[in-house]
Amino acid sequence: MSAKKPWAKPVIAPHRTGLSNKFGAAHRQQWAADIEGVPVADLLAKHGSPLFVISERRLRDNARRLYRAFSTRYPRVRFAWSYKTNYLGAVCAVFHQEGAWAEVVSEFEYQKARALGVPGERIVFNGPCKSRAALEVAVAEGALVQIDHLDELYALEGVARAAGRQVPVALRLNFDTGYTEAWSRFGFNLESGQAVEAVRRITASPHLRLIGLHSHMGTFILDTRAYVAQINILCGFMEKIEQETGCLIEFLDIGGGFASQNALQGIHLPPEQAAPAPEQYAEAICSALLAATQGRVRAGKPLPVLVLETGRAAVDSAEMLVSSVVANKRLPDGRCGVVLDAGVNLLFTAFWYHHAVMPTRPLDGLAEDTVLYGPLCMNIDVLRHSVMLPPLDVGDSLVFSHVGAYNNTQWMQFITLRPAVVMIGESGAVDVVREAETLQTVVSPERLPQRLTALFPGGLPD
Ligand SMILES: Cc1ncc(COP(=O)(O)O)c(C=O)c1O
Repeated sequence: MSAKKPWAKPVIAPHRTGLSNKFGAAHRQQWAADIEGVPVADLLAKHGSPLFVISERRLRDNARRLYRAFSTRYPRVRFAWSYKTNYLGAVCAVFHQEGAWAEVVSEFEYQKARALGVPGERIVFNGPCKSRAALEVAVAEGALVQIDHLDELYALEGVARAAGRQVPVALRLNFDTGYTEAWSRFGFNLESGQAVEAVRRITASPHLRLIGLHSHMGTFILDTRAYVAQINILCGFMEKIEQETGCLIEFLDIGGGFASQNALQGIHLPPEQAAPAPEQYAEAICSALLAATQGRVRAGKPLPVLVLETGRAAVDSAEMLVSSVVANKRLPDGRCGVVLDAGVNLLFTAFWYHHAVMPTRPLDGLAEDTVLYGPLCMNIDVLRHSVMLPPLDVGDSLVFSHVGAYNNTQWMQFITLRPAVVMIGESGAVDVVREAETLQTVVSPERLPQRLTALFPGGLPD
């Protein structure tokens, strides 16, 4: 008699047909003259080129889909918006309106969240570099500090002692799941015993109370089994330290890391097939968490809150970069080169993604292998090394997507100014959410010593 197969929970995963097979994707010319119903030509005429365009509808849809995926599978879920992914005030405000806390990794981001109106008690404070002054403010305002290293632990204890308080804290951990490279430079290592030592140090202190465990494994994690391993390791550690020290862990923060719908360089499947859907991440994570906490429930302890710091998967698809053609070139090897007015100064993520790129009108002529260069006088300024495009005219515009994650925070002001960012609201209204920079933006923090104000004291050079 054959062995009975174990029951496996059925999962519904969205599939899209007509995409690539192992021989690659079909080349179909696509174009889009508008974004969310607003003509691209009108956007450029009013706000200039290049231009970042955010769709509020997509931001909200993404936030809601993620929340729904997790909250329908696990009863206690909290999102903390990862500021570093995109800290434009308007973007953060949308996520906060959708119920997210703020997750910050520096004093600057902390101040930004506070300036936007986020109360301290809704801020998760991560990162390896928190000054004593920043810890003092965080403790005074009730923010949740997730400790990265022992020196921070000692400093925080000192701050709590001085404030005469017992401060609830969490620990960032790192460990090997067997699926991703362990980011061992952040937090306390589990395998070496460092993490348990830190727990003992906290639980022995009258000024600190351990309430949470945090782990951010990395980014663009395509294998949901990495999260299952992460949950199992975190839960195992939680049980161990609760038994040993009597602490009660109230939440498990699993960081970010979900892949967005971008084509990562080196991955040959299209993103629709390579990246798990939010529901697939949620299914793997919540099932693992429910299974690993059964004993806890039987013992009458509350389920830990599941905290997510999802960044790129929540924001990437909600923003586009529109750029215009400045010139066409024929390269010595025969390929077509196009010079655009946006480069890696604005689209930092072009270093690791093959961003989708779409013209804004139907193009005539045969598609050919094209290199898309940016405007910088720098050889590495390439937005796409190879993309099939029909001939473009000077003045034509191209829309790059998905660009919402890490570009508005990692962009650089190198030899040129950063352009405006607009948000298209759900009603179709277009608001500027970041003004285009001017010369004044760059020079106003500069100071010229008096002795340097006369440029050519000996007369104009020949
Ligand atoms: C601590 C922490 N949380 C969350 C994130 C967001 O990650 P992702 O954009 O991969 O979701 C990051 C990004 O590096 C991070 O360092």
